[in-house]
Amino acid sequence: MIRTELAGVVDADIRSVSPETDVVLHEHELEDPWDFEGVYAFLHDFASRYPWDPEHEEYLVHITTGSHVMQICWFLLAESRRIPGKLLQTSPRSESGRGGEAGRGGESGRGGGSSGAGSYSIIDLDLSRYDGIARRFEEEQVEGLSFLKSGIVTRNDAFNRLIERIERVAIASPAPILLQGPTGAGKSQLARRIFELKRLRSRVQGAFVEVNCATIRGDSAMSALFGHVVGAYTGAQRDRPGLLRAADRGVLFLDEIAELGSDEQAMLLRALEEGTFLPVGGDAEVHTEFQLIAGTNRDLGDAVATGRFRDDLLARINLWTFELPGLAQRTEDIEPNLDYETARFAESTGRTVRFNAEARALFVRFATSPAATWPGNFRDLNAAVTRMATLAAPGRISVPVVREEIERLERAWRRQDPDPDRAVLVRLMGEDGYAALDRFDRVQLAEVVRVAQGCGSLAAAGRELFAVSRTQRTSVNDADRVRKYLARHGLLEALRAPR
Ligand SMILES: Nc1ncnc2c1ncn2[C@@H]1O[C@H](COP(=O)(O)OP(=O)(O)O)[C@@H](O)[C@H]1O
Ligand SMILES: [Mg+2]
Repeated sequence: MIRTELAGVVDADIRSVSPETDVVLHEHELEDPWDFEGVYAFLHDFASRYPWDPEHEEYLVHITTGSHVMQICWFLLAESRRIPGKLLQTSPRSESGRGGEAGRGGESGRGGGSSGAGSYSIIDLDLSRYDGIARRFEEEQVEGLSFLKSGIVTRNDAFNRLIERIERVAIASPAPILLQGPTGAGKSQLARRIFELKRLRSRVQGAFVEVNCATIRGDSAMSALFGHVVGAYTGAQRDRPGLLRAADRGVLFLDEIAELGSDEQAMLLRALEEGTFLPVGGDAEVHTEFQLIAGTNRDLGDAVATGRFRDDLLARINLWTFELPGLAQRTEDIEPNLDYETARFAESTGRTVRFNAEARALFVRFATSPAATWPGNFRDLNAAVTRMATLAAPGRISVPVVREEIERLERAWRRQDPDPDRAVLVRLMGEDGYAALDRFDRVQLAEVVRVAQGCGSLAAAGRELFAVSRTQRTSVNDADRVRKYLARHGLLEALRAPR
């Protein structure tokens, strides 16, 4: 047979150039060398049985001959280290007579022999040529991460790890993604970015379709989502495709999914599981294939417990659940976001505005202090920057503008938050620490913390907190009083910690 003949030629060649080499032929009859499964199974078995001894022997896998399927299988086995060898690639002599080109991680050379020898290269997948490929993947990943973060250089470790996981899932999985987090944490923006990233990497062909479930409650919800056929009900004068169909081969973002009615939940579950649904009034199933991203600012587990959300739907959509933190949990990221918002303002209005240094420091100090609870998260930050930039004298945001904005935010948050003292203290000492405080201390401590944070130094805080009595005393050491008071409650370090 030809194959046996070829093996014989190789055998003879090796003996002639290297008489000390033992040649051991393993003969195997492959039914079909183009059948991937068969070839892979055979080579895999061979590799599993072979008594590899890489400490004492060196292995080369010649991937130039054989069917393409065989070459791919050899590669896969070497790449996954089931065969602990390097790849050997040979080529006939080129016209110019040049030797084979080796990669950075390979060796190469011109073969011996008299009659027009070709060239070879040895590719070690563990070495740098392969690193080069890995590096490209890494660069691509960094690009993807930056893309998901809208180019904002975030510093919060937990958030960056979260984005890394989201990037991996966005690239690799068409399964539903659930984005959980408080209002304004950036769920909608992130959902859109995930879609854009998938599109850049050719993971979706269809459109991004977005709907806030709170806005489609009641009768119209079914037909908005699943469409209807003409005559389905009075007023249905023509077919309506519905959002699920519009999202075919793309992404459907269902924001506030906890607000979805129970009939819609049931239909959605079926569409996710079987890829089909029935439009309102229709009798023909419609097929659609979309990736679901769901957003919620509510704990869906609670909604299940109170019977408002189907547990089977939750089970289906929380394979990849990501919890977006609020801005108050990411104080390191407030500065980069402030820059982002300022740039965004400039972009949308054509007016470039900058903080002067003192004003910026004042705002950042407030924004990162426990007094700043940021209940509306990025929405609050965006609104604050818009207001300051609008009110600023041309080009510059000054200290008085910042002071005014801080007061405005505090007033607004006090209105929204029934117990702002609690919010400030819980952030510093946790629920348990707060619960252990007397009511008498809560009010006073919260106020001292607020002032200390706003002032930046204990001396300045002392001056402000004891502004009245200090005028009546001959010796003053108010900084020390503040220090001792905070230390008594174990808060001195927490307030000093760089943020
Ligand atoms: N990472 C971010 N940095 C800065 N601004 C953001 C970020 N994510 C979202 N935003 C902005 O904050 C606002 C609220 O974001 P959005 O995605 O609508 O929040 P959610 O859907 O969680 O309520 C939008 O104006 C959005 O552009
Ligand atoms: Mg939203």
